[in-house]
Amino acid sequence: MRKKIIAANWKMNMTQSEASSFLDTFLRELGDEKTVEVVIVPAFTALSKVSERLSNTQGVRLGAQNMSAEKSGAFTGEVSGAMLRELFVRYVILGHSERRSLYGETDAVVNRKLHAAVEATLKPIVCIGETLEQRDAGDVEKVLAAQLKGSLAGLTAKEIHDAVLAYEPVWAIGTGRTATPEQAQEAHAFIRKTVGELFDETTSAKMRIQYGGSVKPNNTEALMRQPDIDGALVGGASLEARAFAEIVHATARCA
Ligand code: 13P
Repeated sequence: MRKKIIAANWKMNMTQSEASSFLDTFLRELGDEKTVEVVIVPAFTALSKVSERLSNTQGVRLGAQNMSAEKSGAFTGEVSGAMLRELFVRYVILGHSERRSLYGETDAVVNRKLHAAVEATLKPIVCIGETLEQRDAGDVEKVLAAQLKGSLAGLTAKEIHDAVLAYEPVWAIGTGRTATPEQAQEAHAFIRKTVGELFDETTSAKMRIQYGGSVKPNNTEALMRQPDIDGALVGGASLEARAFAEIVHATARCA
């Protein structure tokens, strides 16, 4: 049984004080929901505040939005895996489409970061997904297979034991246009099959695959009821504490 995992990718939003008031409301609304794993992924500057607030909250984990592939040294503006670990960060998002399209992160870069994350004992959330042009050209499977192969290169099944994948079709991110549950399921089933080919059946059966792209309280259940959708990576709707709690509760109803 794969435990469903819902992550709040706050992107470049939420100061420390905004994060704090979000958590006041969110944790109250969440109650003692334990069937779903929840991950809060703030900007680097709010990590320590959120970490402190979550230290006695069971079942809500902390994640980072990015990390360096390097261990330490002269890399101005970068943050290492060890720095994140010290703040009790458990998860790290790698290869988000905004990192890929705005900051030139290739599969090779994502792969180097993934190796660094594994070494730092951070659980990676590796993002993949096609653009609208690629979908219209009928290239969805080709794109996803190439991203998986490139991003996961050189890792063993044991090393990606704790990894999570996130299928985020670029055309559904921040657009209000969600993939239909059937479109998402089709992509997730293909991703799972490909993981089986790259590693083994046990790994693919265990691998959690999140969907991301305009997830809202009112479309969560239909997505989460699909057999290969194991959670969501939520952007816009994760900035509103009540909406995000509602997404977690809707997921719990499908767990
Ligand atoms: P939205 O939920 O705002 O579409 O963002 C999705 C996303 O990019 C999560 O990582």
